[in-house]
Amino acid sequence: MKVPFYDATREYNIYKNEFDKAIAGVIASGAFILGKQVQEFEEAVCKYTGAKYAVGVANGSDALVIASDILGYKNGAEVLTPVFTFFASTSCIARLNGQPAFCDVDEDTFCMDMKDAGNRITGKTKGILPVHLFLQTADMNACMELAQKHHLTVLEDAAEAFGMRIMYNGEYKHSGLIGDFGVFSFFPTKTLGGYGDGGMIVTNNEELYQKAKSYRTHGSSKKYHHDYIGYNSRLDTLQAAVLNVKLSHIDIAIQKRADHASHYCEMLKGVSGIKLPVIKNGNKEANYVFCIQSEKRDALEKYLQSKEIGTSIYYPIPLHLQKCFEYLGYKKGDFPTAEKLCETVLALPMFPELTEDEVSFVCESIKEFYQR
Ligand SMILES: Cc1ncc(COP(=O)(O)O)c(C=O)c1O
Repeated sequence: MKVPFYDATREYNIYKNEFDKAIAGVIASGAFILGKQVQEFEEAVCKYTGAKYAVGVANGSDALVIASDILGYKNGAEVLTPVFTFFASTSCIARLNGQPAFCDVDEDTFCMDMKDAGNRITGKTKGILPVHLFLQTADMNACMELAQKHHLTVLEDAAEAFGMRIMYNGEYKHSGLIGDFGVFSFFPTKTLGGYGDGGMIVTNNEELYQKAKSYRTHGSSKKYHHDYIGYNSRLDTLQAAVLNVKLSHIDIAIQKRADHASHYCEMLKGVSGIKLPVIKNGNKEANYVFCIQSEKRDALEKYLQSKEIGTSIYYPIPLHLQKCFEYLGYKKGDFPTAEKLCETVLALPMFPELTEDEVSFVCESIKEFYQR
């Protein structure tokens, strides 16, 4: 049996007629830039997440840059952000000449360690950029406490977090909607992924919404009238059409991912040498990536590859050790939890259309590896 890490074609084949109709509809209309499907999708995301406002942009990385620019994470301002995440969570600050103030992560959730963050606040700290990783959000209760205490803004990198919720002020809130801005990525592998790049900025603040909307079209509110030096970053209409179809089936997709996660946990519990995911801080998870931790990670990955099982390592190098961030002056040993995770974390196949047999085969293969 061959088990792919991810396969987009299975879902396409299930809903083929809906996808084909949606894509053909855009082509037939000839309205490719900010066509009606973009607004429909923005409204659908607001309805699903509870956001007041949503702005579709070209990708999650642009969403982070635009939101950072509007919040003033630039020109020397310090922004607290974790080292264990995808590059774009930090490059958005650095490319605006802001100063990433790196923090370590929690060993269970892999998200920003808010205690560590609190210790790194200085007079120049402007904001907090927590990242909701793999299956659960950062501790947003602690994050907002810090923000309120020190008058900081919060930009939630929810690129991976569509469908994740956290208990906040007595109710479950969708990721991205507790801070000032939240961003989603619709990169194809994401829980809500398109057939190409796509991203979104969400907020409950009308002023921030108006700015974000203007920034995505060169800072203009009216054609050829530019209030800001913005960007050209619009969600593609074809992607919005695909994403509308995907969003209509998202609850089924999230449930199937949850079923696979339970299946993995059931079969792998008690295997010595493996640490399974731990859910904390009142999180209601959505399984974008399913990771185990293993001290023998590299050998285990090789073994699984020999069985034609797809795996992935998110993330092999923490951001403070990336060449381009040498100028920030951090060194190996500065963030021990993140550094350890980079050596031990292994992502297993996770997408809704995996079969139970495939998940069982992955688990049996892992057990075989440890019994050899
Ligand atoms: C945590 C995180 N932030 C930002 C991004 C950037 O999103 P995109 O690939 O849509 O630019 C990603 C996804 O790839 C991500 O995982």
